[in-house]
Amino acid sequence: MTSSTWLDASIARAVAGTSRLAAAARDFPHIVDHGTWQFTPDGVWTGGFWAGCLWLAAQHGGPATLRVQAIAATERLLPHVHAARNHDLGFMFYPSAVAAWRATDDGRYLEAAKTAARSLAAQFDAHAGYIPGWGFFGGEDWRGSVLVDTLMNLPLLVLAARHGGDAGLLKVVRAQVATTLGHHLRADGSVYHVYRFDPATGAALGGATYQGLAADSAWSRGQAWAITGLAILAGMLGDGTYRAASARVADYFVAHLPADGVPPWDFKAPAGAPKDASAGAIAAYGMLRLHELTHEQRWLGAALRLVRALHDSCENQGDDPGLLLHATADLPHGLGVDGTTMYGDYYWFKTLVRLRQVLTTRHLDASLDVPA
Ligand code: GLY
Repeated sequence: MTSSTWLDASIARAVAGTSRLAAAARDFPHIVDHGTWQFTPDGVWTGGFWAGCLWLAAQHGGPATLRVQAIAATERLLPHVHAARNHDLGFMFYPSAVAAWRATDDGRYLEAAKTAARSLAAQFDAHAGYIPGWGFFGGEDWRGSVLVDTLMNLPLLVLAARHGGDAGLLKVVRAQVATTLGHHLRADGSVYHVYRFDPATGAALGGATYQGLAADSAWSRGQAWAITGLAILAGMLGDGTYRAASARVADYFVAHLPADGVPPWDFKAPAGAPKDASAGAIAAYGMLRLHELTHEQRWLGAALRLVRALHDSCENQGDDPGLLLHATADLPHGLGVDGTTMYGDYYWFKTLVRLRQVLTTRHLDASLDVPA
């Protein structure tokens, strides 16, 4: 298959795969574990990605019923905008409520996104200077633990501030990023998944992990969240420091990819360990955003190579469930190893669409070997 036709075909497959799943799903698809989609009635932290896939499919040639289903999935998440202990509210409401507001112009969805932003900002511990990583991790006490993933939830606060929200939302964004750049980002450009503080005194205790191999390893998806979260925030806020930090993590990511171009679940895992294609899709999206910010060809080249590698060895081109295979949700806890994840599918779909947009704008062809 030549040039851009592979990209068009992948987008068509993403639309078809989302339509197929939409016809079967009564609840929110979360991860594929042992070959079967696991559904959740409330969407846990991934429901926004399902709504986001439905919106993308509705906007890229899917049947009209998908728009109805995208609205229904978005509506079903709205009761969670008031969550008081959930650092994933950006994941839940940017791809759903913000996408719904943009697609329908219904201000109710913007208000819902703003409420979710306030709920997230209310979790900020002003004394300690961070949003704890409250989420879906069983009974653990997360008061003193900060996840690198939280970066991805901050664009919701910026959007809310831009649309009549309290300016204090931006202070939370600045403080959370400062904590992450000051503690998670390491000298070699990789990031800790978790950084722990003493919740009583705020004293820094050290790097840790929840889903990675070890505290000082480099959990692939954490690296990808950092690249993309920082690149999006750099664009929204025009911040060169965030852009440079995103590029540092992206350099680490690219330099540690194996020969087949698909990230292992953790960059410090032994050769032959399960892959995490979702980390590849998320990082590719972040690198596209870096290219748009910097106009540096190397980021377009890196994104294109990642997408080609995922297309060649992870895209579902058959009857398996999901759009993107060989993702790993949480290996240490035995969840979704070498399966499909809703976030992997969403960022795969979003990256394909954005890549085509970038290539079209630049009058480039997806078959071109973009210089490194
Ligand atoms: N908790 C975010 C992730 O699993 O990537």
